[in-house]
Amino acid sequence: MKFVVLTDTHFVVPGRLLYGLDPAARLAAAIEVINRDHPDIAFVIVTGDLAHWGQVAAYAELRKVLGRLVAPVVLLMGNHDRRQALREVFPAVDDDGNGFVQSVRRYDAATVITLDTVDEENPTHAGILCPARLDFLDRALAEAPADRPVLLFQHHPPFNTGLPHMDRIRLRNPDDLWAVFEKRRRPDQIFMGHVHRPIAGSWRGIPFHIQRATVHQVAFDLVSQEIPGSLEAPDYALVDVSPDALVIHQRPFLYDGPHYWLHDKAAQDAADISALRP
Ligand SMILES: [Fe+2]
Repeated sequence: MKFVVLTDTHFVVPGRLLYGLDPAARLAAAIEVINRDHPDIAFVIVTGDLAHWGQVAAYAELRKVLGRLVAPVVLLMGNHDRRQALREVFPAVDDDGNGFVQSVRRYDAATVITLDTVDEENPTHAGILCPARLDFLDRALAEAPADRPVLLFQHHPPFNTGLPHMDRIRLRNPDDLWAVFEKRRRPDQIFMGHVHRPIAGSWRGIPFHIQRATVHQVAFDLVSQEIPGSLEAPDYALVDVSPDALVIHQRPFLYDGPHYWLHDKAAQDAADISALRP
């Protein structure tokens, strides 16, 4: 099974920019490439911060752009999102029965679980998983088929990444999440948004993946206490789940530089390869 991960689309109302970027144009560019190059994906999942200020008009714009996507889409909440506004525009968005945007999807290759880590009352943008949301996860893990991996998606990382400013607004109760894993089962992979940087590794033995936003990025800065912005090129991830491997490709979908064969002697020797084409 293949699927695509996008994160932190940060939509704003039509006609305005965010940090000099047009979030709608960015997502549209990603969708054009995804539709063209990945007709075999099962779904596209967006791991939160769908709209920058959580406005209804921004979600309406997001809905319009997502309408171009051929594959089905799965949406998660991020700290910039507002559930009520999201539901107003996307009435069919996932609901775990308690109003949280959480879900379980079973595929032959994997079970996909999404969590809603957003604390709308918390002005710091840190995340939380309340008992009701953890109960949902408990049931989802208990019912997940044992013969295939569990892939968990949530906006906030439950651990420090070394970016001081982002670590202050991570998930506030990682041990509560861990307790559910210990009781039921550990997911095989965790995908997250929030950080706007490519980071991979493992948390207490569970592999994780964090990727760049479709819009503005957080700079590589392990010192500053403020959140440092950058305009590094955005990525999407193509995930390929097979019986013996889970492979995550990160692709900078706006790249428009040279393409050439590495074994091409002319390319090796050229002072300027921008004119070469395979
Ligand atoms: Fe974000």
